[in-house]
Amino acid sequence: MHIAVLGTGAVGRAHAARLTTLGHQVTIGTRDVEATLARTEPDTMGTPPIQPWLTQHPGVRLAGFATAAAGAGLLINATAGHATLDALHAAGADHLAGKTLIDTAVPNDFMTSVDRPMPTLWGIPAPLLDPVGGDSLAEQIQRAFPETRVVKALNTMAAHVMVEPTALADGDHTVLLSSDHADAKQQTTDLLATYGWRDIVDLGDLTTARATEMLQPLYLALTRALGHEHHGLKVVR
Ligand SMILES: NC(=O)c1ccc[n+]([C@@H]2O[C@H](COP(=O)([O-])OP(=O)(O)OC[C@H]3O[C@@H](n4cnc5c(N)ncnc54)[C@H](OP(=O)(O)O)[C@@H]3O)[C@@H](O)[C@H]2O)c1
Repeated sequence: MHIAVLGTGAVGRAHAARLTTLGHQVTIGTRDVEATLARTEPDTMGTPPIQPWLTQHPGVRLAGFATAAAGAGLLINATAGHATLDALHAAGADHLAGKTLIDTAVPNDFMTSVDRPMPTLWGIPAPLLDPVGGDSLAEQIQRAFPETRVVKALNTMAAHVMVEPTALADGDHTVLLSSDHADAKQQTTDLLATYGWRDIVDLGDLTTARATEMLQPLYLALTRALGHEHHGLKVVR
């Protein structure tokens, strides 16, 4: 299948690399191809420039968000949460319509500052979440693109764990799904199974994405406590 991975960071690259090894045709979407290829410094998340990575992954194509989305049968959103709606508008509603969009984003709000001490991770203050509680980024996407089938998944773990769950605890941990669309959940479940996921819990409709998006502070606290991102959640029942 031709899959568009929207986002050039660690998450986008992890999915693109894994999907090509699984035999998919993959295009990574970015705002401005020339500007992205011209970068020579790591981004604010510490992710190195993409040009050398593309050389090491010749099966992955880089394109603008719209071109990447236009040719795809399935989409993965791996853009910064505060910019996801802008990125998807740049991709174009017509190019997203009728397709499943797996949304891995966390709605980190780096804009709002608070005048009280915030927990830090790797020396960086943890961002607030926005929206939180009564709404979710996944629902915002679904409202903005009603003809797209949004599935929230994979946002509760690090990029490398998303695409290779068996690298952790022999794969005996849980990925959570939320969507209003049964067929999109099934398509996502099938893809996750090819990644190696065995414990896939369907939480229900897209309002349940509020719960998984709100797990971000727990993810950061665990990462801080353990000193690494090589961890996942297990729902024991
Ligand atoms: N890193 C992880 O392990 C991890 C784990 C769980 C969830 N997540 C979530 O997954 C998503 C991707 O994370 P990441 O660390 O791979 O990358 P990221 O740095 O959060 O996002 C990079 C992508 O966001 C795009 N972007 C940034 N600002 C934009 C704007 N103003 N308009 C349009 N697009 C914009 C960038 O476009 P350009 O390509 O044009 O620069 C790039 O493609 C995020 O929502 C993150 O919270 C990350």
